[in-house]
Amino acid sequence: THIITSPCIGTKDQACTEVCPVECIYDAGEMYLIHPDECIDCGACVPACPVNAIFPEEDVPAGEESFIARNHEFFGV
Ligand code: SF4
Ligand code: F3S
Repeated sequence: THIITSPCIGTKDQACTEVCPVECIYDAGEMYLIHPDECIDCGACVPACPVNAIFPEEDVPAGEESFIARNHEFFGV
């Protein structure tokens, strides 16, 4: 799955939601989050985000690891 990290907070540009082919990016209040069971890892959302908030789970930067759990727990998976 791909993971949305802290730069989305306060930005919520929503460009990612427009390019995702499976519409698995959801409004989660202060930020958007990706449903891990629906994401097909196509990567289309990564260059779409103007603040570079989205990463493949295995490439989440140091200090942003807590967002891996956040993307999972929001959806209960
Ligand atoms: Fe959607 Fe593809 Fe991004 Fe996953 S990697 S959230 S399927 S655009
Ligand atoms: Fe957030 Fe970037 Fe999408 S700011 S809503 S992850 S385009």
